Amino acid sequence: MGTERGQERADRGGLRVCVVGASGKLGRYMVQHALDRDYEVVGVCREKSVGKLAEFEGRITVVAGPTDDREVIGRAVAGCDAVLTVLVPWGVHGYSTGTAQAVLDLAPAGARLVFSCGWHVARDDKDVYSRRFLAFTRVFGALARLVRVVDVDDQVEACRRVFDSGTRWTVVRGSDLEEGESEGLPVWSRHVGDPVLAGNTTRRTDYALFMVEAVTDDALVHEAPAIVGRRTPSARAHARPPESR
Ligand SMILES: NC(=O)c1ccc[n+]([C@@H]2O[C@H](COP(=O)([O-])OP(=O)(O)OC[C@H]3O[C@@H](n4cnc5c(N)ncnc54)[C@H](OP(=O)(O)O)[C@@H]3O)[C@@H](O)[C@H]2O)c1
Repeated sequence: MGTERGQERADRGGLRVCVVGASGKLGRYMVQHALDRDYEVVGVCREKSVGKLAEFEGRITVVAGPTDDREVIGRAVAGCDAVLTVLVPWGVHGYSTGTAQAVLDLAPAGARLVFSCGWHVARDDKDVYSRRFLAFTRVFGALARLVRVVDVDDQVEACRRVFDSGTRWTVVRGSDLEEGESEGLPVWSRHVGDPVLAGNTTRRTDYALFMVEAVTDDALVHEAPAIVGRRTPSARAHARPPESR
């Protein structure tokens, strides 16, 4: 896909952002939100998924290849101001960890790095999980690993590496997701278990919106916001200003 229009954007002073995992549902929403902001966009996805980005033909640059391939990531993130990475725990060979490490190592110094994951990734001991949530995660994780489809611990390890890195990171922890029209920017909390999150639903497009907004929100550097849709009953009842989170 062409880069000419991207170059025009850069010349106008826009940001250059890389979306790692661009062909997935969250990735495509992020590409769209980034284009809406007139950013120059580089998308990374597996070779077989390039067709899923056809709607952006001529408007983004696509780098095809596995997202844990350091050569692929190195090429894609070169010159980027920000990298938005969809962390997915597919397979049992450290795909998430390899993807995160490649981004951490190869993104330009000072770039904003924003990663996605689920609430199951704890930031610290102030995250509180219900017994039901823990039981589900344990059983799902064991079964998924048994059939060698998904390794939830891989995503946890990927995030631990992000937290320990010296980069300008944000890890956005998503609730259950649903499709539908945007409701606006989700609300967030530092801690899973906060009553504001009880609604446990976010529109996928709004998750992507939060990820893209984080690029220019320095208040989110070194934060792991757990997010929820702003129209959920819990958000309406408990949303409060950032300083009290
Ligand atoms: N789904 C939820 O309810 C939920 C809840 C909380 C948090 N999240 C977080 O939200 C983010 C997006 O999740 P999503 O469920 O909405 O999925 P998604 O955006 O559709 O993304 C799935 C990604 O996984 C890739 N993928 C699929 N099969 C693969 C394989 N075998 N090997 C390597 N990559 C593979 C896809 O690439 P291709 O396009 O190449 O297939 C795509 O980039 C994730 O970080 C997830 O942890 C999701």
